[in-house]
Amino acid sequence: MKPQKTIALYNGDLIPAIGLGTWKSKPEELYQAIINAVQLGYRHIDCAAIYANETSIGKALKDLITAGEIKRESLWITSKLWNNAHRKKDVAPALEQTLKDLKLDYLDLYLMHWPVAFKPEVRYPQTADEYLSLDEVPLAETWEALLQQKEAQKTRHVGVSNFSVKKLQSIIDATGEIPAMNQVELHPYLKQDALLAFCKSKRILLTAYSPLGSRDRIPEMKAENEPNLLQDQTILELAEIHQASPAQVLIAWHLHRNCCVIPKSVNKQRQLENLESERIKFSEEDLNNLKKLDKNFRFVNGKFFEIPGNSYVNIYDE
Ligand code: A2P
Repeated sequence: MKPQKTIALYNGDLIPAIGLGTWKSKPEELYQAIINAVQLGYRHIDCAAIYANETSIGKALKDLITAGEIKRESLWITSKLWNNAHRKKDVAPALEQTLKDLKLDYLDLYLMHWPVAFKPEVRYPQTADEYLSLDEVPLAETWEALLQQKEAQKTRHVGVSNFSVKKLQSIIDATGEIPAMNQVELHPYLKQDALLAFCKSKRILLTAYSPLGSRDRIPEMKAENEPNLLQDQTILELAEIHQASPAQVLIAWHLHRNCCVIPKSVNKQRQLENLESERIKFSEEDLNNLKKLDKNFRFVNGKFFEIPGNSYVNIYDE
């Protein structure tokens, strides 16, 4: 197995640059997908409580570790706090449940999934009154509770997801503590250079979600006529030049930018293909062509959190 690219966090700890995404993976297919991925060489797995599949991942990890195929300390496991556990007292129990489901003693990284809070009993709100406002549960309160989980050694690192520069700055100002990671949607149609530059200046790493355009989302989450990254003309041309697949081009671009990337696949062949993206090295011309693709387009536009009467508008502060 070839050594994989790793990226240093603020304190020098190394995270494998390519992780396996698990959003949208069905529980019944994920057990085998995790076994395959680890056997192929994946060492970084990206999870979240709301994906409702952590128990399948936990069973696979336990079986791999028990069989001596992998050591816990060779893996990087990320998970995320769901929006209904943002109150200070709810954070520790939520992480405890995730650890139980994943059959782990600790995480490598725990992220605040969204800068949005729901009432505790609500998984997916249907009405405005099922939300809590950020005045009721400030992001800094949740961030402090995450930091306490790091202190308690339940997770080695803590970070956030879907945070704008403004929101990152607000929790840093409130606590003096900088997140290790911000996981956001990132691909050539949404290159987010200003966010990347800000994060670099603070030594916050970015992880790119939906790097392939997440075409397996439920129809309600898709815009009409949304563009297809995997069939983009420039991406197809670069794939041809590098004798690679379009997915490999898309993944390699993040490695070039020193960002982590978490393509989801439950298919062994595509998992391997994605892991092998590292061999692509872009020329200046390639990079210029990729740069031209930006259109500030989000596949996950966050509008589903904007219900008339709740306090969430423009969650990306654009
Ligand atoms: P599958 O899981 O059957 O491989 P994203 O990571 O942006 O959310 O995209 C995930 C989608 O892309 C899934 O539908 C996944 O299907 C598909 N996918 C993953 N790897 C590849 C690949 N190498 N080529 C084409 N499609 C891929």
